[in-house]
Formats: sequence, structure tokens, C-alpha cells
Amino acid sequence: MNNKKANKVTPYAVSGEVDYDKLVEEFGVRKIDENMLNEIKKHTKDLHLFLRRGVFFAYRDLKWLLDEYDKGNKFFLYTGRASSKGSKVHIGHLIPWIMCKWLQDKFDAEMWFQFPDEEKFLYKPEMTLEDTEKATYEDMLDVIALGFDPKKTHFLVDTKHAGLMYKEACKVAKKITFSTIKSSFGFTDSNNIGSIFYTAMQAVPAFLPSVLKGKNIPCLIPLGIDQDTHFRISRDVMPKLGFYKPAIIHNVFLPPLIGMGGKMSASGAEGTAIYTTDSPKEVEEKIKKYAFSGGQATLEEHRQKGGNPDIDVSFQYLRMMFEEDDKKLAQLEADYRSGKLLTGELKQYLIDKINRFLAKHQKAREKAKSQLDKFIYKEK
Ligand code: TYM
Repeated sequence: MNNKKANKVTPYAVSGEVDYDKLVEEFGVRKIDENMLNEIKKHTKDLHLFLRRGVFFAYRDLKWLLDEYDKGNKFFLYTGRASSKGSKVHIGHLIPWIMCKWLQDKFDAEMWFQFPDEEKFLYKPEMTLEDTEKATYEDMLDVIALGFDPKKTHFLVDTKHAGLMYKEACKVAKKITFSTIKSSFGFTDSNNIGSIFYTAMQAVPAFLPSVLKGKNIPCLIPLGIDQDTHFRISRDVMPKLGFYKPAIIHNVFLPPLIGMGGKMSASGAEGTAIYTTDSPKEVEEKIKKYAFSGGQATLEEHRQKGGNPDIDVSFQYLRMMFEEDDKKLAQLEADYRSGKLLTGELKQYLIDKINRFLAKHQKAREKAKSQLDKFIYKEK
């Protein structure tokens, strides 16, 4: 048994090295295999690199969702972000959101995006609701910057849309026991009662469009696997309220700069995350200083033995997010393994890629400030 493999993955704690195969078994999700990729491709014609390279690796009810789509029963997309003071959006957070944007384009799907501004307030003793309000504004800019269609994208902010959501959340909450919450999230009797109720709020956007339109509409939720816990609980409840269980696709975590296996986290130690607002210099310094290298200790040794891209964080960031071209990626991998490509060169290649991505993102983020109003859901 590998003791390094931690095995705590809940929305409130991801520790150590994550064993994704074990999670598939424990959570009862299915792995995205070749057949499923072909099913998706039938509709999308091509596959996003997140799908080609296993960044989205598991699902629930995706085949059902695609079959419904085939029959003309279109789905909507739902995902979210819980803003928190001192925890800015990092490049890992963008993974499920970029997937949503791609799916919105491919399936012409409506998108519902939840900002549960009470969530981190309830979990973090030092946080005020004013803190999360400010952070939510900043995080919305990151979402808009990814290019969502304002006509088809709706932001829900829990405290602002409480009138719309609370009633539905009560219906969910009535069907979940305290003991389920305790065992699912690892809570104890000393958790505050707001945190116990919260999961009911996260369930609501998965069926709110059905309530608003007065008909049952399928839902697809792209998310990081840590968030699955919420929906393991609420998926059982939704049919009891007359709604479909939402389908889900799960992504692995972008690892922290300091090494493979875990989760890039905005509340982690210095040098673990690259934020969407980092300057080119910050990106360069962080990667040069912290990105864990699979290279050898000396240049001679590296030329002779070659590097290991499997544990090299720079290579993994290129594979998971920043090198779109499969041929180029294969070349980088071969050159790194053979020792032709040095760690410093690989890092520089990644720095340039990330900085190009962030320059575009930051420009779009500025522009987003004047677009915000179009995205916030307005009750009819
Ligand atoms: P939050 O704000 O912690 O994270 C937002 C999304 O980012 C994913 N994520 C990552 N993905 C890849 N690599 C990483 N290193 C990484 N770190 C975080 C998370 O899994 C999540 O999908 N409770 C939620 C907010 C929420 C939500 C939802 C999320 C409300 N409704 C519906 C998903 C679906 C939260 O705290 O996410």
C-alpha cells in the first residue's frame, strides 16, 4: 500500500496525493473511456484537450444526458465558485469553467453559474459577508473573461437571489438528515448549523431552471472531483422532488507548483498557485523558483539520463492546459525524456505560454467590468 496516497477528498479538505482510481471506486462514478469519448465526439466533432488528455476523467449519467440530447431534449450547464477573502482565482479553478464554455458553444447550452457567497463565510471563522461580496465581484470577472455568451449565461448569488433559491433549498434540506451530512463531509456536532444546511443551496441551481420554465430539463455539471460530495447527496433527493438527477463530469486537480499529486489551492502555502491576476514577472519567478522539476541534478546527468515528464510540474501544466498541439506536446515529452530539452528550457516554454494566456485573460477581465450586469440573473 502506498501511504503517501491520502484519501481525503471532500469539498472542505483535499490532503496529500490523490488516488483518482480509488475515488472512482469510492464515489461510484464511471471513468471516461474511449467509448464515452466517441459518444461525445459524435456531437462535438472534435474533443477539447481536457477530454483528449484525461483532465476530465469521470462522469455520472453522461450517456443518458447525450441520449436525451439526441432525442431533442437539450440540457443546461451548471457550475460554481465559492469566493473567499484572500483566496483568489487560480489557473486550476479555470479548468471546469473553460470546459463549460466549450460545452456551451458545442451544445448551444444555457449556463447557470452559482456564486455561493455564504459558503466560505460559514466555514471560515474570520470571514465576513462583506469580504465574500468583494471577492465574488472579482471572481465574476474571471468567469466572464472566459467568453461565456451573456444571453445564455446566468449568475446566481446566494444572498442576492435568496428569494428565488431559499424555497427550493428548503425542499431539498427536508430530505437530508444531519447524519448524512456528518458522514459525507466529516462534520461533527460542533459545526455551525449554516454549514450543515449549505449543501441544499448548492443543489438548487441543478433544477432551478426546470422550476422557472415549468418543465423538467436535464442538467450537466462540470466540476472538480472534490465537489462531487454535494451532488452524491442531492442527486438522491432530486427525483423525489420530481426532477432529473443532474449528470456530472469530473476533472482531476491541477497540481500545486511544488509537486504532483495534490491540488493547487489558493489557500495553500506560498508558491503553490498561479493566480489569474499574476503579472508576467510573478509567473516567471514562481515557475523558476517553485515548479517541481523531473530533471536531473546536473546538466551532464540530465543530458545522459534524461528527465521525467510524469513528475515534472511544468510538463504537466503544458499537458493539462497550455499546449494545445498534440504533436508539439509529444515532441516536448520525447525531448525531455531523452535529455535534449533541459528543465530551464521547459520552464521558459511554459512561462511564455502562461503569460500569453494571462495577457489575453487579463484584458478580457478588464472588459468584463462593464459587462457584469448582463450576467446577473434578473427575475422576470
Ligand atoms: P471552489 O470555489 O472551491 O472551486 C471552484 C471550482 O474549481 C475546482 N477546483 C479545481 N479544479 C482543478 N484544479 C484545481 N487545483 C482546483 N481547485 C478547485 C473545484 O472543484 C470547483 O469545481 N462549493 C463550490 C462552489 C460551487 C460549485 C457548484 C462547484 C457552487 N455550486 C456547482 C461546482 C459545481 C466551491 O467551493 O468551489
